[in-house]
Amino acid sequence: MNGGEIQIGMIGCGVVGQGVVDLLANHRETIHHRIGAPLAIKHIAVKNPRKTRNGISPSQLSNDPQKVLTDPDIDIVVEVMGGIDPARGFVQSAIQQHKHVVTANKALIAEHGHELVASAQEQDVDLMFEAAVCGGIPILRMIRENLASDEFESIRGIVNGTSNYILTQMESQGWDFDRALKDAQKRGYAEADPALDVNGGDANHKLTILSTLAYKTLVSTDQIPTEGIEDITLEDIELGHRMGYHIKLLACADRGASGALSLRVQPTMIPLNHPLAEVPGVLNAVQIQGAVTGPIFISGEGAGGAPTASSIVSDIIDTSRSLLRGKPRRVAPWSVDQEHLNAVRIQGLENHHSKYFLRMHVEDKPGILAQIAQALGHYEVSIEQLYQRENAQAGNITVIIITRACRERQLQSALVQIEKLEGMGDAPKRLPIEPSPE
Ligand code: HSE
Repeated sequence: MNGGEIQIGMIGCGVVGQGVVDLLANHRETIHHRIGAPLAIKHIAVKNPRKTRNGISPSQLSNDPQKVLTDPDIDIVVEVMGGIDPARGFVQSAIQQHKHVVTANKALIAEHGHELVASAQEQDVDLMFEAAVCGGIPILRMIRENLASDEFESIRGIVNGTSNYILTQMESQGWDFDRALKDAQKRGYAEADPALDVNGGDANHKLTILSTLAYKTLVSTDQIPTEGIEDITLEDIELGHRMGYHIKLLACADRGASGALSLRVQPTMIPLNHPLAEVPGVLNAVQIQGAVTGPIFISGEGAGGAPTASSIVSDIIDTSRSLLRGKPRRVAPWSVDQEHLNAVRIQGLENHHSKYFLRMHVEDKPGILAQIAQALGHYEVSIEQLYQRENAQAGNITVIIITRACRERQLQSALVQIEKLEGMGDAPKRLPIEPSPE
């Protein structure tokens, strides 16, 4: 602190960083009032310091992160450069310099959160990352503080704004996948590597963080079976709608009766009237089933400069308040004690119990439906609904089957047989249907 002013250093200044600069300027008086002291951005390290940036003077900019990390006047380092390296080293170095850190970097926290939380604990500084999950929605604070007394039976979330925007535009505007993705990138929703948005990687990072916070276990990214939306077609969306569903990329955590935790990120069919099905565009939403509180639903903008900046600045305010009272780490993100780290077993996807939506392209010939039904029946997968329509141009038919609830492993075994049937076109597609039965 310098002259009663809390000094901030930033590393990175893209869409989100600029959002932080704008918000600190636009809400300056409110923020001062809420903290009880003024904030100032002393230095920002960026790749290109010559680029003109709104509300930032050239003297605040350099391309040297060490200027942020080693300046003794800087109290809080805001990391908004994204990616794991070199961000990991910068955050670690800031912590070792006894600086508090606020980051929006979900990949970093999901992959290396444990080591960074432990370092922050050792150095007695705050490591805050509300902006890493669901942009402007204060979901981490809610789990960590407001619902601290409860246990969570399940968490369901639309946690990637880009993929939700793509699916919404495909359904409402009839755009193809590439056009919708380009538009999401133009709006500043997508990651620097948009593959992470569409392949489920970003949602995986967010579920890793959410479930580590919510359950007594340190979840790692590779424990979450993850599928993206790259293979979802306009046909899937249209036929899903015809059968009464919207497709959403859903991140799910379920605490089963056995106490085991089941985690997954998958494109999922959700009934049209379900609250999660009605979350459009870049909005995110999380539905939590608390053992005591019951159902809780929260929704808001999940990507983009302004909503993400709102969570970052809230973390800066929180840290500043602790700093002024000389009491950092008021609430640790999660326990780093060994006995709490792997207290819950995580079970594989093969046990997931759900109804499924199956889409197949098949030759229109006698007996093919009977063979499909026989393969399903052999693995005790029962059919609830069946719909077929002719594709005149392709000279085949599309078959949609809604199954009754079964285990993923039963369905996969049946699909192995179905794929081999003569007359079967491309690989059958299967999407789980939510809400899943008990
Ligand atoms: N690319 C991310 C998304 C940004 O679309 O949700 C917010 O984390």
